[in-house]
Amino acid sequence: MHTPVLLQQVMERLAVKSGGRYIDATFGEGGYSQEIANRGGKVLALDLDSEQLKAFEVSRLPNLDLVNGNFADIEAIAKEKNFCPVEGVVFDLGLSMRQLKHSNRGFSYKNLDEPLDMRLDTEKELTAAELIKRSSQEDLFEILAKNSEELRSKEIALAVKSRRNPETVGDLVRAIDRATGISSQAVYARVFQALRIAVNDEFGSLRRGLQGAVNILSPQGRIVVVTFHSLEDRIVKNFVKNGKLKFLEKKPFRGLKSFERSAKIRTIINS
Ligand SMILES: C[S@@+](CC[C@H](N)C(=O)[O-])C[C@H]1O[C@@H](n2cnc3c(N)ncnc32)[C@H](O)[C@@H]1O
Repeated sequence: MHTPVLLQQVMERLAVKSGGRYIDATFGEGGYSQEIANRGGKVLALDLDSEQLKAFEVSRLPNLDLVNGNFADIEAIAKEKNFCPVEGVVFDLGLSMRQLKHSNRGFSYKNLDEPLDMRLDTEKELTAAELIKRSSQEDLFEILAKNSEELRSKEIALAVKSRRNPETVGDLVRAIDRATGISSQAVYARVFQALRIAVNDEFGSLRRGLQGAVNILSPQGRIVVVTFHSLEDRIVKNFVKNGKLKFLEKKPFRGLKSFERSAKIRTIINS
């Protein structure tokens, strides 16, 4: 079985009760869903990327219902499935290793020949290449600055828009190199993250998803969110502050091992 990041820490916070209803808002490779089901929870799992659900062939568990959908619509999906109120919801944001390495959609700056697609929902029209093509230099600057806080967003937007619009990962990486004069993986990662966020409206979906989750949460129910960068974490913090909700712990739990060091866990409790 695939072992996802921070499995034990997430499960401790979700505190699965046998027979309780749980939504795994980001099914991915199924690690959290399977663990919740193993602990006796009934699971409704969502993933926006239909390829993720297709890849899930291992012994399907009786307590697991999979839906290809956006967690922005979590409330409507749970109601349609007659799956509420729920004891807990987990959001494990970002992408899985399989998507980064094998989706052929240009999520990783390492796969130079892949098309700049970046859509999680491949039924949607707008790819990253198309977004760049339709954006002015100023629009592109806004997308990069807002979604990654990359300090060289202006230079990068200029370099990207001053030549033929990029169509592959390699085209974009070369434009970033021209702008910065260095080959920095940290800069590539921020630029790719910013475009992916824009293509998939990740921040809008997160806000709607959190609100929808609160609306269907039972008293004392929990929402566990694993974030991977400060902009996502800020959305969760502001959501709790503005909604007069409470965190279970004052400070987020931070991943310790190298591959999970950027991960933070926050738990919202319906008190
Ligand atoms: C980091 S992976 C989750 C890994 C998962 N916890 C596991 O155990 O394998 C994130 C998953 O969330 C999905 N995702 C991202 N945004 C989504 C959204 N708005 N709605 C539903 N799924 C989404 C991605 O397609 C990806 O499969």
